[in-house]
Amino acid sequence: MASTHGTSDWLTERTSMSLDTGADRHLWEGGRRYHAYREGRYSLPNDELEQQREELMHILVMDILDQQLYLAPMTEPPNKVMDLATGIGLWAIEMGDRYPDATILGLDLSPIQPTSVPPNVTFQVDDVEDTWVHENDYDFIHMREASGYMRSTPAVIESVIAHLKPGGWFELQEFHWVAEKEDGTIDPNIPVNRYMEHMMSAAASTEGRKIPIVPEIGEIMRRAGFVDIKKKTYRVPYGAWPTDPVARRRGAVLSVNAELLLPTSDKVLGYIGVTPEQAEVLYADCVKMFHNPSIHCFATYYVWYGRKPEVTNSSLGESNR
Ligand SMILES: C[S@@+](CC[C@H](N)C(=O)[O-])C[C@H]1O[C@@H](n2cnc3c(N)ncnc32)[C@H](O)[C@@H]1O
Repeated sequence: MASTHGTSDWLTERTSMSLDTGADRHLWEGGRRYHAYREGRYSLPNDELEQQREELMHILVMDILDQQLYLAPMTEPPNKVMDLATGIGLWAIEMGDRYPDATILGLDLSPIQPTSVPPNVTFQVDDVEDTWVHENDYDFIHMREASGYMRSTPAVIESVIAHLKPGGWFELQEFHWVAEKEDGTIDPNIPVNRYMEHMMSAAASTEGRKIPIVPEIGEIMRRAGFVDIKKKTYRVPYGAWPTDPVARRRGAVLSVNAELLLPTSDKVLGYIGVTPEQAEVLYADCVKMFHNPSIHCFATYYVWYGRKPEVTNSSLGESNR
């Protein structure tokens, strides 16, 4: 952990930091601003434009989920909650507002969360891929739109289960950007899929990372020891082509979001030799696709959740053997 904010002692903590951890600094490159703490860990910017994109994404996701912050079937509202890779912290803040008796801790590489937040919400600059120093009695751990950026999502999910209390829940939500046609088939030649193919090779060849990983999260959770694992998926159109007003609205917002996201890929695509000019052409093809009402494709929003098993007498016996 590098620093804490979101509470009244934020200023004190910042000014009393003796080490320059980079937690409260930023780096600039190519006109965009990036996180400085654990420099280079996350490839997307953290500037105003990216923060607006994140806010738009939050609005879209809340629309898709009928304004529910989570789908895990907890019988009681959670008391102790952690939000991994919280970004600008909107999910954590809304959890704090809706559940005033709960405490919510949001972690991120960037100190981009507001300082005026509900009293039960705290933010820390932290790399969730470091060894966790957090307590191990969380009721609920949540991660949204972040697994594709981790070097090892399975390792993060192992930290999650180790820090939940028995019976506690984990929920992971994320877009799967590979575009499906209405009949569920995937055309590798459509621009979004060509873009995804490039992003996958870049992540695999330079960082040894596998993206997209979203459809496999359930299996990763099962291997980590979770039970009662469930998946819910929502198809979201690329573009405002549907006649149904709700689908049309979601499609329009998704494509605006994707248009903002595409230019942040220059750096990653550069790893596999795609020049900024070539990337520009690819992005323009994607944007043309979003605006072409005769191309009917969907992204898929995934919600995965699962429970850490209760400690039973027999499992206690087993661990003592
Ligand atoms: C696309 S944003 C999503 C933010 C937020 N979860 C949401 O849904 O609005 C991804 C966030 O993950 C954070 N992130 C990426 N890798 C991280 C890591 N290893 N530790 C902590 N945060 C990380 C980034 O800084 C960024 O804020």
